[in-house]
Amino acid sequence: MRAADVENQITKVLVTEEEIQRKLEEVAARVVADYEGKELLLVGILKGAVMVMADFARALPREMEMDWMAVSSYGAGTKSSGVVQIRKDLDSDLSGRHVLIVEDIIDSGLTLSWLLENFASRGAASIEVFALLRKPEAAKVVVDCKYVGFDIPNDFVIGYGLDYNEKFRNLRDVAVLAPHMYS
Ligand code: PRP
Repeated sequence: MRAADVENQITKVLVTEEEIQRKLEEVAARVVADYEGKELLLVGILKGAVMVMADFARALPREMEMDWMAVSSYGAGTKSSGVVQIRKDLDSDLSGRHVLIVEDIIDSGLTLSWLLENFASRGAASIEVFALLRKPEAAKVVVDCKYVGFDIPNDFVIGYGLDYNEKFRNLRDVAVLAPHMYS
């Protein structure tokens, strides 16, 4: 689905499909250099990271393994509570592995901060993060994120994996949801 298909539901396109693909190539080149001689395990956080994982993994001109985790945030009805429940755990044993967590977005940072703590106890050789998008103004905790695609404003964004009520994940670009959609 393209931005033109939902033009009445968005206010603007923030990052185009082409900009995303160019950025993935850039990050892939850095990752290839940084992980030379090491086995690499990409861990995607469902569901938002599906698109970035699929494209980033294919942008990497080297071997890698892929695993997935699904988590959900709970507490006082807000997703930014920092209380996280594992819905689907990893299939892999992380001990001795070089892990690169792949996320679509860092908003408050609470999900990743919890995940990093959780992963740290599993004996990985290294753990780094690649987030395609980051909202610096929304940060509640600082997350050590080695690879960031784009810093974006604190707007409600959809597309390229990001949803509003489970819709719009299949939009090829990242766009700002029109306020009339949720107010
Ligand atoms: C989104 C996103 C991150 C998290 C970031 O997932 O994929 O995992 O929120 O928010 P935070 O920095 O404030 O913790 P969400 O919980 O919406 O689930 P989804 O990926 O299944 O849409």
